[in-house]
Amino acid sequence: MKKVKVGLIFGGKSAEHSVSLMSAAAIYQHLNKERYEPFLIYINRAGEWCLTGNTSFKEEELKKEKFHSFMPWSSEWAAALDADIYFPVLHGPNGEDGRIQGLFELAGKPFVGADSFSSQLAMDKVTAKMLFAQAGLEQAPYLYFTENNLEQIVELTRKKLSFPIFVKPCSMGSSVGIRKVKDDAELLAAVDLAFSYDNKIVIEKAIEMRELEISVMGNDEIMVSSPGELLPSKEFYDYEDKYLKGETQFRIPVRLGDELEARIKKTAHKAYRSLFLNGYARVDLFLEKQSNAVLINEINTIPGFTAISMFPKLWQAQGISFAELLERLIAYGFDYFNQRKENVDEGLGR
Ligand SMILES: Nc1ncnc2c1ncn2[C@@H]1O[C@H](COP(=O)(O)OP(=O)(O)O)[C@@H](O)[C@H]1O
Ligand SMILES: [Mg+2]
Repeated sequence: MKKVKVGLIFGGKSAEHSVSLMSAAAIYQHLNKERYEPFLIYINRAGEWCLTGNTSFKEEELKKEKFHSFMPWSSEWAAALDADIYFPVLHGPNGEDGRIQGLFELAGKPFVGADSFSSQLAMDKVTAKMLFAQAGLEQAPYLYFTENNLEQIVELTRKKLSFPIFVKPCSMGSSVGIRKVKDDAELLAAVDLAFSYDNKIVIEKAIEMRELEISVMGNDEIMVSSPGELLPSKEFYDYEDKYLKGETQFRIPVRLGDELEARIKKTAHKAYRSLFLNGYARVDLFLEKQSNAVLINEINTIPGFTAISMFPKLWQAQGISFAELLERLIAYGFDYFNQRKENVDEGLGR
């Protein structure tokens, strides 16, 4: 049988560059080489691209490659353009936000994961919140602002929310630019910080909660895993905790009882649908301590994918190995592509 050529794209121009290297290394390692022929496209921190045979997944090594400003559609790159399917393993802005997905769509190539439209919806916290509300999902009370008008922000925040609150840029990820705020003075600094990353910011009430994550995959029919819990080592799950200290503890899966687990799964299912997602995603939830209410926080369309990451670990807990998970995700990518192509062909009367 002819092997399926899988173009792994990793690195990227985001704060999660080094996580992407680890995710890509794990995916490369676990891809069944009897069925798939992986090849590697690395994007450095400057956003330049290279095709590489270097499987170290180390930045110092990869630096030595010859880079191009963009995927060059030339003969030299024939191998890169020849993938049967692309697998973007890029976390955060420029990788998870629909941009690269749009490039594959434009090129008429299948790829793994959410399409460009739903990726954008998931990345934009304000838009996602609106759609979650529309679907009847509960979430933390929030406000959003598109203008750094401090007077107005302070007034509205005082009126509608009570401290402590979270101030976030609308579409960053990795907790970059996020602050937990306890008073007016902190609010001013946090608003400036958030606006330095984005032209939209979100302010939301801090919830006393247990932090849950759950894996979802599929297109027309979707599968939802059991939930996992993370226990940040600090006040909240910030950048340092996520990537530098590694002291966060995980419960994979977490046992919460049938009723609650069913409610959590239903919420995850609805949330995935509410953003019109396909492929796969990790849905992040808050379990409010006092009320046991399940609140949706956000959806990550390219979640951490290292061997110890929540997304693959949750499937593993259900008996789906890393390698099998990759096979499924690739199959979903092809299915979605073919289905869309049929729709277009039919629409054009072909
Ligand atoms: N409303 C909230 N109440 C309590 N904790 C929150 C709230 N919003 C965010 N957090 C904490 O901050 C972390 C990062 O926020 P999140 O919205 O997930 O941003 P990012 O997209 O950067 O991951 C969460 O994982 C959680 O620990
Ligand atoms: Mg998050």
